[in-house]
Amino acid sequence: MIVPHYRPSFSSREITAVRKVIDSGYIAQGERVQELETTLAEFVEKNFGVAVSSGTTALILALKALKVSSGNEVIIPAYTCTALWHAVKAVDSIPVFSDIETKYWNLDPDDVKRKITPKTKAIIFPHMFGQPGRIQEISDLGIPVIEDIAQSIGARINGRPVGMFGTISIGSFYATKVIGAGEGGIIFTDDKTVENYIRDIREYDEKETLTPRISAKMNDITATIALEQFHKLPEFTSKRKKILAQYKPVLRDRILIPVRDSGFQSNLYRCIISHPEKTADELIKLGKEYGITLRKPVYKPIHTYFNGQNLINTESAWKRQVSIPIFPDMTDLEVELVYNFLKRTFSKL
Ligand SMILES: Cc1ncc(COP(=O)(O)O)c(C=O)c1O
Repeated sequence: MIVPHYRPSFSSREITAVRKVIDSGYIAQGERVQELETTLAEFVEKNFGVAVSSGTTALILALKALKVSSGNEVIIPAYTCTALWHAVKAVDSIPVFSDIETKYWNLDPDDVKRKITPKTKAIIFPHMFGQPGRIQEISDLGIPVIEDIAQSIGARINGRPVGMFGTISIGSFYATKVIGAGEGGIIFTDDKTVENYIRDIREYDEKETLTPRISAKMNDITATIALEQFHKLPEFTSKRKKILAQYKPVLRDRILIPVRDSGFQSNLYRCIISHPEKTADELIKLGKEYGITLRKPVYKPIHTYFNGQNLINTESAWKRQVSIPIFPDMTDLEVELVYNFLKRTFSKL
């Protein structure tokens, strides 16, 4: 038996909801999309939500709304999803990589400060792996911040939901995300002008003026799945919490994420660990021998695609960190198999 790293959690609720949309005869962008927008905007304490076709599209449109364009620089971490790099390139701007800190493993405000130049037009701050980071210090720098909660919806900083801290915030509903609906994204803002801009540009059809627009809509089938998944978020988190509690006695301080910090509360999307004597590659290989799928938290740090730059924390995190299975749909047997593997690998330390 092989324990996967992730499997989505669906039930008859999603099936019933999708059937209802199909039976209605209207599957395009409609009432369900609107409901998703208002429900999630309220959850992250922003005035407006606009759903789009993916998290990457949400990032691109957020950058466009901030008027980031040719020759501007945008600071991003390298220890993240390459979607951020693609979004910056899509608006013809220059991605500038910043290192991560080693408490929350997110963008390091001190390194961000060092990377700011007169050309810096925005900073993208993803709270990676469900673990919130020091976004408030970065917001204080006075440069627009796009808060990326693709992996962290439901996480909180001092009781406030992530997604409320950015100038503009974005989310993703990609299949493996906390709220998995296949594909999809969302933009949150308090600014009515930004909301109007994104609503206008996401669809090209039946307009009075002909300005360049795209087709980046969500449909009601995707939205209804996302809504059902969102309603299960508390259940997802409590299932993850139970699994984590089973791993904790054997892993103890080998757990890097979630960080034990009541102020910076993770949604438990990922559990990331490291071994003092084994590299990530060695752990992944060992896991495979036991039928346990471990993954590197990011495929490859983005700056390593290019020559030259050193990001010390990013590089050492990538060499040592692995993500272990902690998904809500895990069976008791799967949790036991992971536990046994961890016990063999970590208990002698
Ligand atoms: C932090 C982060 N931002 C943005 C994205 C892009 O989202 P999407 O896959 O929906 O385009 C992802 C990954 O999927 C992500 O992990």
